[in-house]
Amino acid sequence: MNNRIVIFSAILLAACGNNPSSRTVTDTAGARTVTAVSLLPDPDNFLDTADGQATGLYFLHNGNLTAAITNYGARLVSLIVPDKNGTPTDVVLGYDSIGKYLHRPDTYFGAIVGRYGNRIGHARFKLNGKEYTLYKNNGPNTLHGGKKGFDAVVWNARKLDTTTLRLTYISKDGEEGYPGNLQVTVTYLLDSNGLRINYEATTDKPTVLNLTNHSYFNLNGQGTGTIGNHTLQLNANYYTPVDSTLIPTGKIESVTGTPFDFTKPTAIGARINDSANRQIKFGHGYDHNFVLNTVKLGPPEGYEEHGPAAIATGDLSGIVMSVYTDQPGIQFYSGNFLNGTNPLKGGKTDGYRTAFCLETQHFPNSPNEPSFPSTVLKPGEKYSTWTYFKFSTK
Ligand code: BGC
Repeated sequence: MNNRIVIFSAILLAACGNNPSSRTVTDTAGARTVTAVSLLPDPDNFLDTADGQATGLYFLHNGNLTAAITNYGARLVSLIVPDKNGTPTDVVLGYDSIGKYLHRPDTYFGAIVGRYGNRIGHARFKLNGKEYTLYKNNGPNTLHGGKKGFDAVVWNARKLDTTTLRLTYISKDGEEGYPGNLQVTVTYLLDSNGLRINYEATTDKPTVLNLTNHSYFNLNGQGTGTIGNHTLQLNANYYTPVDSTLIPTGKIESVTGTPFDFTKPTAIGARINDSANRQIKFGHGYDHNFVLNTVKLGPPEGYEEHGPAAIATGDLSGIVMSVYTDQPGIQFYSGNFLNGTNPLKGGKTDGYRTAFCLETQHFPNSPNEPSFPSTVLKPGEKYSTWTYFKFSTK
């Protein structure tokens, strides 16, 4: 539970080689973390209230990996992994205080997005013959849960141990226009190789649900410039083309011969400005859902055996991130709307295409597209999905 008493003792312990110095620091749950904490934000800067509920910052630690998570939006604030030289590197964009998150929730930095990740066309859908009207926060469409999605609410946080944080949120019947009282649990679990996110939910009325994590990655380190030279490989032979408002047309098209072919490792920037391609134009770069090949391969338990959905590599750091998931799609967004207005941790700033998102999820607009895998959750069913971000170097 939120422990409001936070001791922040900045004892410099060591500065070894290029490694950022370590100091002891205590997070909101009262747990101690000593590795690479000079890269971590001060937990004191996350003590506040939003909607009358306490916010805080929680650290997870395992081997060489450290994560920081705030219960505001269940957001991943920092994810520190070693680069090819062993230097701790923070690979996600984030802010160093709760005030900045409250001021700019709409960047979705590190957030858990819900009830519906990405867009629902014309901000409405029908379920069991009844039409539900949602909030238009993206042209004619609704995006990432509406006016105040799961990214902008305070979750109840409970640290289970030094590697595990469990966050829960109850979304009331009718919240943001969606039916059903929904009980959501998101668990962040750091092992010695990566970060696993488990999503669980139940409802008391039929509803639609599509949860994801909206971290912006720069594997050379947040705030270090373009991601154009990162390489990306996606285990996806098909993608879902969109209209000019970024709603899928309903077609599933082959990536072969298009800038969407990432079936072999390819620089993100290599074809991103291919203005002859209408889809690239609509997305202002990449902002598309890829249909994962793994979706045809059977029960969720076996997904890791079928290989990663995505592999991204930082050209300067040598950090390799492999993304595993049981979800049918991945939204690859190349940071086309980042514009240098967001003050990042450590005095850095963001910038055009200086980070990318790999949002594992169901396809956008599925509630209105019967041919896409269903996002309906019924009473008595348990929503249970997972994604694992695994790190190595080369
Ligand atoms: C969307 C983008 C949007 C970004 C930030 C992505 O998931 O597809 O269009 O700009 O999130 O909201």
